Amino acid sequence: MSRIPFDQLPADVRQAVADKTGAVHQATTVSGGMNSGIASVLRTENGSIFVKGIPADHPQAAAQRREAAVAPHLPPSCPHLYWHLAVDGWSILGYEVIDGRHADYSPGSADLSLVAAALAELQGIAAPADVDIKDAADRWADYAPPGTLHHFEGKTLLHTDFAPDNVLITQGRARLVDWAWPTRGAAWIDPGALVLRLMDAGHSAEQAIAFADRFPSWCNAAPEVLAAFGAATATLWREIAEQDSDEWKQGMAEHAVELERALGADL
Ligand SMILES: Nc1ncnc2c1ncn2[C@@H]1O[C@H](COP(=O)(O)OP(=O)(O)O)[C@@H](O)[C@H]1O
Ligand SMILES: [Mg+2]
Repeated sequence: MSRIPFDQLPADVRQAVADKTGAVHQATTVSGGMNSGIASVLRTENGSIFVKGIPADHPQAAAQRREAAVAPHLPPSCPHLYWHLAVDGWSILGYEVIDGRHADYSPGSADLSLVAAALAELQGIAAPADVDIKDAADRWADYAPPGTLHHFEGKTLLHTDFAPDNVLITQGRARLVDWAWPTRGAAWIDPGALVLRLMDAGHSAEQAIAFADRFPSWCNAAPEVLAAFGAATATLWREIAEQDSDEWKQGMAEHAVELERALGADL
């Protein structure tokens, strides 16, 4: 959806935010991402805060509710969620502000080891049982080759969207944001999601796979498991690219075919 400045929210919504934060002196809309109708850093009488929001009747509003529900279970690499408001048709989240920049995934980037450290931390977190999050086997059901869906099952908390604008680099750390798609599943899925993003930033399939080998979940996964992931990823992105001619999506679909080839080559 298109993003509007904080100042254009209804007055009672802005007042409800100010009741939480103190008087808002300045609002700066941030770049990156596309789902949130509001994504702004607010300078307030009590310091800075990041707010993201979406109309409560928007199809993505459920994703924002999941993001709020999973927040207490996230590791320290994720910014702290202070509050969640639902006022006058808007759902707004208030987060610790991360004063950073989007990650650079290009080959040789110094950000890569920071991203790996944040993902390694996340790999040790079990998906909370009391939060209504998706199962990886459900998310991949239409894409996994016949008979392979059980490989996607597991108990790990997965982020699944490692777009570089969901990773903020600051003070020698990578911070993971945007938990719109928290998922319960096999731990190797997140390194796999990162592999495709690395390819989109210029890594060959072999380079990206070698990067993922540092994660025990990926390195210890059986070749047929990773081959199933490669095939499922190619099917998923073929579908996305068929529905939208956007150049970036066409590129992702090509990377996914390349990944399928590389992960199937050892079988
Ligand atoms: N805690 C935060 N502090 C500062 N900026 C943030 C924070 N969380 C997200 N951002 C910025 O806002 C953008 C949009 O937020 P995100 O949670 O990714 O929402 P979406 O992609 O759904 O619109 C991110 O790409 C990032 O640049
Ligand atoms: Mg985002």
